[in-house]
Amino acid sequence: MINKLQQLEKDALAELAAAKTEDQFLNIKTKYLGRKGLLTGLLRNIAQVSDEEKPLFGKLCNEVKNSLNAKIDEVLQQQASRNREDILSREKIDVTLPGKYVPSGRIHPVVQIRREICSVFASFGFSIVEGPEIELDYYNFEALNIPKDHPARDMQDTFYIEDNIVLRTHTSPVQVRVMEKIQPPLRILSPGKVYRRDSDVSHTPMFHQIEGLLVDKGVTFADLKGILTAFLKKIFGDGTMLRFRPSFFPFTEPSAEVDIHCVMCGGNGCRVCGQSGWLEILGSGMVDPEVFKNVHYDPEVYTGFAFGLGLERIAMLKYGISDIRLFFENDIRFLKQF
Ligand code: FA5
Ligand code: MG
Repeated sequence: MINKLQQLEKDALAELAAAKTEDQFLNIKTKYLGRKGLLTGLLRNIAQVSDEEKPLFGKLCNEVKNSLNAKIDEVLQQQASRNREDILSREKIDVTLPGKYVPSGRIHPVVQIRREICSVFASFGFSIVEGPEIELDYYNFEALNIPKDHPARDMQDTFYIEDNIVLRTHTSPVQVRVMEKIQPPLRILSPGKVYRRDSDVSHTPMFHQIEGLLVDKGVTFADLKGILTAFLKKIFGDGTMLRFRPSFFPFTEPSAEVDIHCVMCGGNGCRVCGQSGWLEILGSGMVDPEVFKNVHYDPEVYTGFAFGLGLERIAMLKYGISDIRLFFENDIRFLKQF
């Protein structure tokens, strides 16, 4: 029996040496060490071994079993690492090839300008507030001293939703909403979308405004001029030509519009500035006492100024864009430039 065992070990090692594939290794394992394998068979016949030899035979069987097991595991591992090397040598990675290009988005020029303006005014101590785009007639017009039959309503061609609900035509209603809630002194800035029935190279039916409002004791027109000039020079540079032109708004008195030298034509006159050499960028004025009365501020105690500017206009001037409609056509080639 011991001879048989030694022969069996020799046979198994010889077969392993001849085997090449993982399948062949596994078959050998089953053939010798499996539940119905040859070694197991020998062990079952232990009855044929003499009593003196039984302990030795049992021990040898175990040794053969363990060494065969170890040997087979070893060749299986060698096989696995050969396979890996084989794959690595076939599949070459060229690390010098260019990577895949992931296109990156840009921030829309209107948003860039909005952030820039908000941060300039934040540095002047203004806080940012927002108001609704769907607005009551009361806030958009009435509380701003524009009654129903007032001719000033024609200045802003309005989209009506219902009789007393409109798409806000300007950001000025936010002034009223803020003053209803907060007592002076206050400095607020309110950016957002506004809507008008208007469309040409310098007008779109939806555009962005930023409203500013400062109320305190003793605020004068000089404060308005000083703050707006400081702001515009920060955005456009110190050498910028500005003009304050007397104007009219029902909610401010006196009122002024601010024009900036048209950068498209250098002031010579072109399609964008309507041949005037100037482009209007904001409306402003001292808050009308009638508006203060509507929010229960005492006009004898408080004065203030307000302004509303068109963001697209400012972006057009700053980046030299000649048609406002380009902002909303979503042409990637246009947007990529900012
Ligand atoms: C107003 O909307 C006033 N609420 C501004 C104001 C606020 C005055 C506070 C006084 C006190 P106006 O209609 O002029 O004013 O518009 C303000 C700015 O918005 C204009 O100077 C212009 O830059 C811009 N704007 C007006 N209409 C359009 C349009 N259709 N498309 C693009 N920009 C426009
Ligand atoms: Mg105007």
